[in-house]
Amino acid sequence: MRISGSTAVVTGASSGIGRAVALRLAKLGANVALVARREQVLEAVAVDVGRHGGKVLVVPCDVTDVAAVERAHRRVVEELGSPDIVVNAAGFGVWRPFFEITPAEHAGMMDTMYWGAHAWIRAVLPAMLARRRGHVVNISAGSGQFGLPVTSGFSAAAFAVRGFSEALHRELLGRGVGVSCVCPGSVRTAFWDDQRTPRAGVPVLVRYAPKLSPEAVARNVCYCIRLNLAVRTLPIFVAFLARANALWIRLGDLILWKWFVPALAVLLLLRFTLF
Ligand SMILES: NC(=O)c1ccc[n+]([C@@H]2O[C@H](COP(=O)([O-])OP(=O)(O)OC[C@H]3O[C@@H](n4cnc5c(N)ncnc54)[C@H](OP(=O)(O)O)[C@@H]3O)[C@@H](O)[C@H]2O)c1
Repeated sequence: MRISGSTAVVTGASSGIGRAVALRLAKLGANVALVARREQVLEAVAVDVGRHGGKVLVVPCDVTDVAAVERAHRRVVEELGSPDIVVNAAGFGVWRPFFEITPAEHAGMMDTMYWGAHAWIRAVLPAMLARRRGHVVNISAGSGQFGLPVTSGFSAAAFAVRGFSEALHRELLGRGVGVSCVCPGSVRTAFWDDQRTPRAGVPVLVRYAPKLSPEAVARNVCYCIRLNLAVRTLPIFVAFLARANALWIRLGDLILWKWFVPALAVLLLLRFTLF
């Protein structure tokens, strides 16, 4: 779908991936509605987004509140027109062992990532289908393709987003509305600043893997919109892990096993010193 001249809604636009997506869409000629809870932070993002010349609208909204999403959607329609693009990037992760994640935190991840995306899609889809024009991108995660230790709640929400997106992508094929799911590995954002994601429990391979930039994720979001890709997993190492895990879950176990990296390093050392 063409991005230039379209109206886009980006949730989670006050920070990280959502902010980068909003900037990218504006650069490509879209008018953008910025959605998140912190209004002052959104106002600052709006200044940067506005530099690209299109219209920008700040819409404070908690995506877990369905009535607030409906009100926010009405405001976007009144001020920018019916959304052509929605990117659901609102979310957070609590990465701790299962019993250290409270049921409220567990539900909160699901409410924000899955139900928040669900609420926006329910709001925008009827008009998109009527016009046979629209694209939705849901941000899931690498751990929406393979479960990692300490991510039981986060993986559950990310898998939900991925399954929901894939089903809708197929359901809407040929009806003018595309649905994509972007599954990034670790991205350099505030997601990792928080006490919610202590690094200790994170598998070695994930802990030391280089982090993506939010701009790289934003570029991939735009490929999805242009090409109607169903799922985009990045970087390539995470895409490989997703495929290996889908093919044979024991292979996933092995790759994510905490001694895998040291064992591989020792094997390579032996290989090159002894032979
Ligand atoms: N960073 C990573 O390594 C990574 C990897 C894979 C997937 N992801 C996923 O990518 C998405 C974006 O994360 P990020 O890395 O950009 O994190 P981030 O920098 O912390 O941004 C999260 C955004 O979500 C918004 N948000 C949270 N709860 C909300 C709610 N109830 N209503 C509306 N907005 C809400 C926050 O804004 P307010 O606080 O202003 O509401 C913020 O703008 C998340 O779903 C995350 O799970 C991240």
